[in-house]
Amino acid sequence: MHIHVLGSAAGGGFPQWNCNCRNCAGLRRGTLRARARTQSSIALSGNGEDWLLCNASPDILVQLKSFAAAQPARALRDTALRAILLVDAQIDHVTGLYMLREHRARWPLWTTRPVREDLERGNPIFPLLDHYCGSDWHEIALDGAAFAIPQVPGLRFTALPLRSNAPPYSPHRDRPIDGDTIGLAVEDMASGKRLVYAPGVVEIDARLSAAMRSADVVMIDGTCFRDDEMIALGISKKRARDMGHLAQSGAGGMLEQLAQLPPATRKILIHINNTNPILDEDSAEHAEVRAAGVEIAYDGMEIEL
Ligand code: MLT
Ligand code: MN
Ligand code: ZN
Repeated sequence: MHIHVLGSAAGGGFPQWNCNCRNCAGLRRGTLRARARTQSSIALSGNGEDWLLCNASPDILVQLKSFAAAQPARALRDTALRAILLVDAQIDHVTGLYMLREHRARWPLWTTRPVREDLERGNPIFPLLDHYCGSDWHEIALDGAAFAIPQVPGLRFTALPLRSNAPPYSPHRDRPIDGDTIGLAVEDMASGKRLVYAPGVVEIDARLSAAMRSADVVMIDGTCFRDDEMIALGISKKRARDMGHLAQSGAGGMLEQLAQLPPATRKILIHINNTNPILDEDSAEHAEVRAAGVEIAYDGMEIEL
């Protein structure tokens, strides 16, 4: 399995256009040792030629420019992206669909039913896309059964319904139901190697925990270091938990959860908010995460499994 991180930041990216928090201002001024990051998306492939886009970020055009494998140039109009899967209906994961409207065929598009409903009503990208290339929707079932995406051979997927939050334009905002947010367990059918990808999750339940324990690589919600991070900065009244994200620090936090995994498991934080102190490579929090054997995803990160 080939994993390519297109965007490792949460919604807003890093630096965020209107933000002057310590991180964003420091990066802009060049006084902070950190990497800029675009919004949340990864690409997956079994054979290195046919790729699944997992989440379509508002930054997709920039992301594709620095991902050579995405443009094999076999025809006048071409792409190695063969299908798209969305783990939720949030802006940072779906807005890139607008930028992919010039596709030469209907996009094979995989989502859960609640995500499809949000993208038909509150944020009607699906009907809008019908005026351009259009899409063929495939339902991701929540019954735990593995499924294949025929355009992306060699990989087998299982949806993990996750506790998080639904977008503000969803009827389920603050009262999420199963399928508003999923994680993915992905198995390479040739090597048997497994990835768990879960960029938005507030609670590690038994099913997610079991999938994480049997994975070789876990790429998981790295949004905030502290639950009250946005409140402490005066940016928001919301805790990470209210937004559907489990913070890294504290009792029951992500670092504690990841510490329970086998030592050989690669543990990688992804979907990192621009306020998160781990982005500052000289911070105590960055050092704490690295000392715990946890990696911090960056744009362009590649993993072969
Ligand atoms: C989230 O992950 O909580 C959302 O993407 C936040 C946002 O809309 O930027
Ligand atoms: Mn997000
Ligand atoms: Zn900021």
